[in-house]
Amino acid sequence: MEIVIYGNEVLRGEAAPVRVIDEAAVNLAHDMLETMIAGKGIGLAAPQVGILKRLFVVQIPDDIPRVFFNPRIVEQSEETVKYEEGCMSLPGIYADVVRPAAVRVHAWNEKGKAFTFDAEDLLARVIQHELDHLRGVMFIDHLSELKRKRILKVWEEKFRA
Ligand code: NI
Repeated sequence: MEIVIYGNEVLRGEAAPVRVIDEAAVNLAHDMLETMIAGKGIGLAAPQVGILKRLFVVQIPDDIPRVFFNPRIVEQSEETVKYEEGCMSLPGIYADVVRPAAVRVHAWNEKGKAFTFDAEDLLARVIQHELDHLRGVMFIDHLSELKRKRILKVWEEKFRA
């Protein structure tokens, strides 16, 4: 699948719930995982492949691939942490973002089964980043306006294909 790059309006859309977790939905999740791994990413949300559905996939180093249909955060830690983020839709750009250190997510897996998942550290970070994509938010939106403008200027000049 082709990754949608920053500037495309689909990345600013609100993703719709996945009504039925059928074969097509599971195939989409698997295609997204393949695309993510091929691009050396650790998380990929459906809007990033041009599909405004509430679905993202994640695989951090030394972990299994994870699929989240219709995810939502049901709890988050008060403790926040700063961590450097990047995004497959903004290749070459990295910046520190502050987010809750741990989250509890409710979602459905590729078997159509509901689950609740507690994540911390890198996994919590990726999950929050991907959840943002489902409501049209990019990680640079968390930066100050000054920093965001500076980073986008660098991206336009150096990395935009
Ligand atoms: Ni991203």
